[in-house]
Amino acid sequence: MSEIVQTETKQGRGPETIPPTTIHLSQPVTINILGASGDLTQRKLLPALFAMYVQKLLPDEFAILGFARRDYTDETFRQFAGEAIRQFARLPVESEALATFCEHVFYHRGDIEEYASFRSLYTKLFDRRLFPANHLHYLSIRPELFATVLSHMKASGLINPIDAPNWSRVVIEKPFGRDWETAHALNQSVLQHLHESQVYRIDHFLGKETVQNILSFRFANAIFEPLFSSHLVDHIQITAAETVGMESGRGAYYDASGALRDMLQNHLLQLMCLVTMEPPASMTADAIRNEKVKVLQSVHPLSDVDLKKAVVRGQYVASTDANGKERPSYRSEDRVATDSKTETFLAVRLSIDNWRWAGVPIYLRTGKRLARRVTEIAVQFKKPPLQLFQTVECDGDVCDLTGTSPNQLVFRIQPDEGISLRFAAKRPVMQVQVENVAMDFSYSETWQNQLPEAYERLLLDVLRGDTTLFTRSDEVEAEWRVVDPILKAWASNGDFPLAEYPAGSWGPTEADALMHGTDEEWLNR
Ligand code: BG6
Repeated sequence: MSEIVQTETKQGRGPETIPPTTIHLSQPVTINILGASGDLTQRKLLPALFAMYVQKLLPDEFAILGFARRDYTDETFRQFAGEAIRQFARLPVESEALATFCEHVFYHRGDIEEYASFRSLYTKLFDRRLFPANHLHYLSIRPELFATVLSHMKASGLINPIDAPNWSRVVIEKPFGRDWETAHALNQSVLQHLHESQVYRIDHFLGKETVQNILSFRFANAIFEPLFSSHLVDHIQITAAETVGMESGRGAYYDASGALRDMLQNHLLQLMCLVTMEPPASMTADAIRNEKVKVLQSVHPLSDVDLKKAVVRGQYVASTDANGKERPSYRSEDRVATDSKTETFLAVRLSIDNWRWAGVPIYLRTGKRLARRVTEIAVQFKKPPLQLFQTVECDGDVCDLTGTSPNQLVFRIQPDEGISLRFAAKRPVMQVQVENVAMDFSYSETWQNQLPEAYERLLLDVLRGDTTLFTRSDEVEAEWRVVDPILKAWASNGDFPLAEYPAGSWGPTEADALMHGTDEEWLNR
């Protein structure tokens, strides 16, 4: 983490507006987006770069160069960029700012599978009046082309050595591999061309404010950290539920990936690491990533587990919503095989074999077309050792004291971003009655500022050369090691169950079975 600022928020005066961040990046840069005509560029990268420009988070001298096969010129690519920004920007778009931003945008037409296109790119980038010599290359391309493209880039001189006066950094989008073996092979070819410190493997969840705040909550406060252990924690639930299905032609990608590769292997495991890792020795990239790797390496190997009892996969089927509108089944979605066996829902029970967490179940769950969009981490504490407030005699009456549950700490990643702690409190009545109440921290009630998009933060960090919020090579392999046994079990056991769930529900009821024999249940809210 590059800088740590401590401030105090004035309580009780309504949400505060935080003044704009002033970060002056002095190093000019060319941002080269490979796969520039794609969905990610349109929805995320261009709007994020524009937001950074408006907030003065880009250096004074910068160029954005789109590289793709489509037949754009600089002029028509600028129009494409302008439309994308107008459609997807999170901040109001002023025409003048957009016009000056677009003056920094250029296009290189070429085929990323062909070496010649990289040679011509190299020549083009020589025009230093337009293209500053520090290069951020963003690979927003089909993952199977990562290795080829990197080797073309290296061979054509587009990647500077680590000790060169001008830097080259490469951002690699997910999915990074399809299993441990392919991720390992990809790491080998990436590291053949680049030094680890030049590689930025994106997991955009790490760029979310609420996700970064997990470490602040745990390690900037003395009182909470001691609670995070098997002494007090009963179990942890991590949910990333989405209401979306296969919009914008995503079916083709998703049908070949599924919930495990798309969400669990990366985003959910990262959330698990942040909430369970040991305090790092410092807030440096390697110190933090070392601790995350240790957690992943301590996950009890699923190869030793009866996977039918620890993993539930599901796929949505058609249903009708409250207004009588039909919700389509997964198999009838655009670009999805009509007999697809891809999981659109996944629930997994893990455990971490280390001193802090031994014996604490960690439940991870994700799915498409679920009842509500919510991403959260709920840390469920144990019951008090003695249930003093279960039922109490008061003047001959038995007071009704049901309704209290163990303490629960919830990191609300999105939406309604915040953190809440549930505890029991006495009701203000003459009897002894206890009920659940919450201490609640809400971003929107504390700060008026809109939360930045994850991609803004991540792109800024690449420009600053800060790899903290990116996945290191050993980390991504450790993630795959956790989930590989599931992939192998599915591949070798054709009748591993694929439960159905109605689109718009909380997933298959079979997922409840993961918690059988305990007092626990999924938090569906
Ligand atoms: C992406 C997945 O990485 O994350 C998508 O590929 C998913 O399938 C998305 O919808 C969720 O991200 P967010 O930021 O919208 O929660």
